[in-house]
Amino acid sequence: MDKLVINGGARLEGEIRISGSKNAALPILFAALMAEGDVTLENVPGLRDIHTTLKLLTLLGCESGFKEKNVEIRAGQLTFQAPYDLVRTMRASVLCLGPLLAKIGKAKVALPGGCAIGSRPVDLHLRALEQMGAKFELDSGYIIGNCSKLVGAHIIFDFPTVGGTENLLMAACLASGTTVLENSAREPEIVDLANFLIACGAKIKGHGTSVITIEGVSKLSGCTYRVMSDRIEAGTYMVAGAITKGDVLLTNCPFEELESVIAKLREMGVFIERQKNGVRVKVDNELNCVDVVTLPYPGFPTDMQAQIMALMCASQGSGMVKETIFENRFMHALELIRMGAGIKLSGQTAMIRGGAQLTGAPVMASDLRASASLVLAGLRARGKTEVQRIYHLDRGYESMEKKLSGVGADIWREKE
Ligand code: EPZ
Repeated sequence: MDKLVINGGARLEGEIRISGSKNAALPILFAALMAEGDVTLENVPGLRDIHTTLKLLTLLGCESGFKEKNVEIRAGQLTFQAPYDLVRTMRASVLCLGPLLAKIGKAKVALPGGCAIGSRPVDLHLRALEQMGAKFELDSGYIIGNCSKLVGAHIIFDFPTVGGTENLLMAACLASGTTVLENSAREPEIVDLANFLIACGAKIKGHGTSVITIEGVSKLSGCTYRVMSDRIEAGTYMVAGAITKGDVLLTNCPFEELESVIAKLREMGVFIERQKNGVRVKVDNELNCVDVVTLPYPGFPTDMQAQIMALMCASQGSGMVKETIFENRFMHALELIRMGAGIKLSGQTAMIRGGAQLTGAPVMASDLRASASLVLAGLRARGKTEVQRIYHLDRGYESMEKKLSGVGADIWREKE
């Protein structure tokens, strides 16, 4: 297993290019299962989760792989089984349910276990697909789904689930009749998925709002589509620029999709400005802690909670971080405390007392965004930080150590 080693204290200066979005590319790759022609995807990030998904698509009967910077997919005769040893490494594999049921009327997907940040059930996906006529049984850890033909339905989600909205959006494209998804998630990655499906010939309205209407079509063609930039990677590098009191320019960087994150960082005192060739992030002064509550989009994203917590630990004053999406997403806090951070946890709330001088330490990554927050703290901490088990990081950040050392960070990867 690899680890990242960081000698903290360098001020980041220069340009960082933001990669394509992991959480947009994943559902779009699964949606490509439904296309009857060739699909070419541009701006796909080279991440572990993307390679895992390409492996799974191949297992399901597609030819798929990177060709130069693009991903080419040609769906062939589909099979229907997504094996446990792949699904357990990536819970997003459950996104093959909707496409397989829509295309071939059956699916056998290992029930994604929980993960470090929570139980992560898929009950809302299954209940909604049952409303469209699918039948499920659970057998030795696998969800086995069957349907003759999915039928359009009026679905109201108990919670604006991102994965649930994506699964149902894909399933409804090839169902007979019209489907209405109410209380849908509004994340930009869902808009990107809908735009990809429309490029393949789907009929979708209302994506990006909480009511999405899909009129089923008989088939979807192939297309060429450019995946959106990764707003969470961009937010992470905004924090990297801020926590080192640096001056960075993020290129290929989203802006509107980061409104709630930019508002919070500005409230802390970070200078953020959209310029001709990117988004500039600069800090000359001490920053102040703020209060953050994670919410479904367009609220503050849970995927940026660990990163802004690291920044608050290195800022003045005190603030509160409330996590409302996942039940166990404070593992990074325990590791930040080992670096001298002033954090008190109580249930879903973390009270941050800023002003601490962070000191480097050997720390353990537990999940994707927790790993990122430990790297960010290491950039600021006095001395050496070693972030172990960074396979978590490699799932969602393309060559993070290269991007950071490119703007002056003293960071390198070592075999553990
Ligand atoms: C997506 O996960 C993202 N993953 C997550 O990003 C992100 O944190 C999350 O949305 C929320 O924004 C991908 O897009 C691949 P949910 P997903 O369904 O779809 C509960 C990252 O770091 N729930 O909106 O799993 C669930 O337990 C990852 O990139 C049910 O109870 O999120 C959780 O508490 C981490 N039943 C909450 O809803 C269900 O059927 C949010 O889940 C579905 C969800």
